[in-house]
Amino acid sequence: MTATPEFPAFPPGFFFGAATASYQIEGAHDVGGRGPSIWDTYARTPGRVAGGDTGDVACDHYHRYKEDVALLKELGVDSYRFSVAWPRIQPTGSGKANSEGLDFYDRLVDELLAAGISPAATLYHWDLPQALEDQGGWRVRETAERFADYTALVAERLGDRVPRWITLNEPFCSAFVGYAIGRHAPGAREGRGALAAAHHLLVGHGLAVRALRAAGATEVGITLNPDRLLPASESEADAGAVRRAETLHNEVWFDPLFAGRYPLHEAETWGELADGAEEYRREDDLITIGAPLDFTGINYYRPITVTDAPHQDPDPATRTAADIRVAETWRDDVRHTTMGWPVVPHTFTDLLVDLQRRYPGLPPLIITENGSAEADVVSPDGQVHDADRVSYLAGHLAAVADAVSAGVDVRGYYVWSLLDNFEWAYGYDQRFGIVRVDYATLERLPKDSYRWYQGLIAAHRATS
Ligand code: NOJ
Repeated sequence: MTATPEFPAFPPGFFFGAATASYQIEGAHDVGGRGPSIWDTYARTPGRVAGGDTGDVACDHYHRYKEDVALLKELGVDSYRFSVAWPRIQPTGSGKANSEGLDFYDRLVDELLAAGISPAATLYHWDLPQALEDQGGWRVRETAERFADYTALVAERLGDRVPRWITLNEPFCSAFVGYAIGRHAPGAREGRGALAAAHHLLVGHGLAVRALRAAGATEVGITLNPDRLLPASESEADAGAVRRAETLHNEVWFDPLFAGRYPLHEAETWGELADGAEEYRREDDLITIGAPLDFTGINYYRPITVTDAPHQDPDPATRTAADIRVAETWRDDVRHTTMGWPVVPHTFTDLLVDLQRRYPGLPPLIITENGSAEADVVSPDGQVHDADRVSYLAGHLAAVADAVSAGVDVRGYYVWSLLDNFEWAYGYDQRFGIVRVDYATLERLPKDSYRWYQGLIAAHRATS
């Protein structure tokens, strides 16, 4: 038996939560007037998602939300981060609201409040209405405008009860994994299209902030997934690779949002693909994008070690925006989760300290996701003894506490995820939950990590 890791200490007022996202847990894909999203289309395309899995049923949270809120209540969290499915609210991405869609989130929010849990709503966690993708998706500015309209509809209905709003979740994935690498919906492999998507996501964020403010929202932020990028060696070539990766992963978001500029090393990073940006960038866009925020959400899982590499595609005409002469290298010195992600908790502290140093205008931080996928098994005693996940969480929470001690303004932490769920291109193979979901019966089973997190929250409450 290994000893249970001790609880790291956090300052009074620091809050704890758990996070999920609509397409990953809701199921009920054709219920309540929901329209198709790009993930319905992508998951139905053979070869895209492991095992041909889809979000059609997922955890059936749409019908079982009461049971899930009860699990949150027993866990003791202060807040629950969920996302609103745009195609439930506007089945074709524009026009008047589908009231049945809003009703679902209305019920969820009321259930949370009755359980004493504060709702935090993400407006876009990747399920773009398919009809908007058919008109160009995030490659075109109209999608940003439609996003603001949709935001206004949701804020109007839920704004009296939802205190915390997150516009976008990980726009890096939407733009580059979705439109350049093609491992996420809509599965495009493009150069300029992905860069245009990145820009329109930021404009959509800025316009959504405006809509939220107009509805009276006072706690508004965006969730980014900055990466801790480490060079594979001390060579000048690897330093260059880190610089390009910094542009692609971090500066493309943080610079326009918090420094009022586009990234400094765009030309070096993207070469010819950066040409023509004036076609989609408008004069006042940086002002729209830089609208003041109340917090920045940070999702963090693992560091990335990068090395210089030739372009995968020598032809700039067909090259994608993710092809920036960088390769990720494997580490032999640490444990990896089942996602193949290295477990190096101190890099989380380093990242947070570095972000605050690089961006003096950065608003307070909230960790909106952190967690690990592990090879869980149900033991003969009927329980899931997920010691690796407990150790991952303990290490990363301690790393957050260290960042707070070093002076970084972090206000709260959401574990990813409350439930095992649809892990995008990996389907149901990767389990991130602190609660196990049996996909045959949809039964929920709290794991050891759930009990450990419950203990941490209780201990924190007792001292604050
Ligand atoms: C980030 C995403 O926001 C979430 O949807 C995903 O499941 C986790 N990372 C784990 O990969």
